[in-house]
Amino acid sequence: MKKLFIIANWKSNKTESEAREWLSVLQNSFSKSEEKNIIVLPSFTVLPLFKDSDIEVGAQDISPFEQGAYTGEVNGRQIREFAGYVLIGHSERRQNFGDTEDILAKKVSEAIKNGLKVIYCIQEAQALIPDGIEIVAYEPVSAIGTGNPDTPDNANEIAKSIKQKLSKVQYVLYGGSVTSENVASFTNMDSLDGVLVGGASLDAQEFLKIIKNA
Ligand code: PGA
Repeated sequence: MKKLFIIANWKSNKTESEAREWLSVLQNSFSKSEEKNIIVLPSFTVLPLFKDSDIEVGAQDISPFEQGAYTGEVNGRQIREFAGYVLIGHSERRQNFGDTEDILAKKVSEAIKNGLKVIYCIQEAQALIPDGIEIVAYEPVSAIGTGNPDTPDNANEIAKSIKQKLSKVQYVLYGGSVTSENVASFTNMDSLDGVLVGGASLDAQEFLKIIKNA
């Protein structure tokens, strides 16, 4: 059985008490398995809550700089105290926060330098993927938060072509309107290695169903 990544991207959601509640539901019903790799991407403020849990975590962003005089930024050396992964290149950051290809390349370099695994988001098949990336998440903008996912066949074709082009990329995930109802149609595809789930991951029961059905 292939290894699957099921990643919850909470975006800018959840207070500390809401995050604790979600985590307690997950911990009561979920047991770690070899085949399903569960990773949560919470806000920086609640990352420490996961420290003694069974659930792996990642940051939603990283500073393109080392530590120093960069007000408001959280750098790779700080992130690695709490998380093993970092999400880079999400379309919401490209659109709203000016993350250009140049900045993204700097973020990737800081992440790799600090031993973080990068989940690198691209929005179309031809997008640039910086060197050193092992996990790519293909997330077409038209599918994010719209209830209108890409077709599993198309996502699979894109995953296949990325792996053919870049031998370093071992895992390609699909993201965009994934739910417990449609998750299996993506995870059953031979070139897809999992899913990146936004809105549907905020509800702990729905996320448990996604894990079960994947
Ligand atoms: P969505 O978001 O599942 O709410 O469509 C996915 C994402 O942006 O990672």
